[in-house]
Amino acid sequence: MEIKSIGVIGAGQMGNGIAHVMALAGYDVLLNDISEDALRRGIETIQNNIDRQVSRGKVSAEDCAAAMARIKTTTTLTELGQTDLVIEAATEREDIKQQIFDTLLPNLKPDTILTSNTSSISITRLASRTDRPEKFMGFHFMNPVPVMQLVELIRGIATDEPTYKACLSVVEKLGKTAASAEDFPAFIVNRILMPMINEAVYTLYEGVGNVRSIDESMKLGANHPMGPLELADFIGLDTCLAIMNVLHDGLGDTKYRPCPLLSKYVEAGWLGRKTGRGFYDYRGETPVPTR
Ligand code: CAA
Repeated sequence: MEIKSIGVIGAGQMGNGIAHVMALAGYDVLLNDISEDALRRGIETIQNNIDRQVSRGKVSAEDCAAAMARIKTTTTLTELGQTDLVIEAATEREDIKQQIFDTLLPNLKPDTILTSNTSSISITRLASRTDRPEKFMGFHFMNPVPVMQLVELIRGIATDEPTYKACLSVVEKLGKTAASAEDFPAFIVNRILMPMINEAVYTLYEGVGNVRSIDESMKLGANHPMGPLELADFIGLDTCLAIMNVLHDGLGDTKYRPCPLLSKYVEAGWLGRKTGRGFYDYRGETPVPTR
């Protein structure tokens, strides 16, 4: 099946990035969120990020204008039912995703492929509650979407081969690389990345290093582009904690125990860049460590 139009649910950090790369690759995009305000902010972010690509000579001004013209927005979720591929990138909560699928399903074309950008929720379980488990899979982008080369494609237990191949061809058209992952907690990237971030928080919690020394160590000592605490702030500490909980609950091994200090930051509402404070305070000119 040839995919021409793509419905993206959620205009936040991941959703607007997905709409951005899909439109640049030539797909017609219908972007959905619950309010006009969220959609306006999503479109503004896409425009800023595409402008940045134009100013760095990565994209021509004509391609940028054509891409922006390919993105339409709607607050009516059911309108996405006519697209060929739907990518759900709403809040990482199973009840919210479930509600979205329940509303969308009665209005979905029979051959539409339904996917979720979930970073850790079971694809098989999400698929089992739809009318098309064979046409359901995980389509997991990395943040920032326009920059990161990888997309994880996760097959649920029932996903059929044509669905996988159709999604793979979309990833290829984006110029990105797909990693095929089995449907076990947190898939590949987060299974490896989150325990490292959690360990960095334990290193802070136990006083082995402070925020700056931990981040500098991993940047200069392991050539990571960002330190683990800076990266945690970038991803969102609530997301990091949610993924550690999925690993802990799903695999039942104490090595995935979320660090109490990570929970404490989330309890404080210090969720990282998006709330202005996390392991760094972003409210001034330059980020200042909070410990
Ligand atoms: N849109 C478009 N372009 C962007 C962008 C965006 N949102 N953000 C950055 N860029 C571009 C910049 O324009 C710049 O382009 P050039 O190379 O042409 O100059 C390039 O990316 C580098 O950006 P900067 O110079 O501003 O900053 P940087 O060199 O510090 O790089 C970074 C920023 C790419 C984010 C880099 O720090 C990095 O790779 N960090 C690690 C990110 C990472 O690990 N992401 C995965 C998170 S895990 C995940 O997403 C999975 C999950 O489920 C939680």
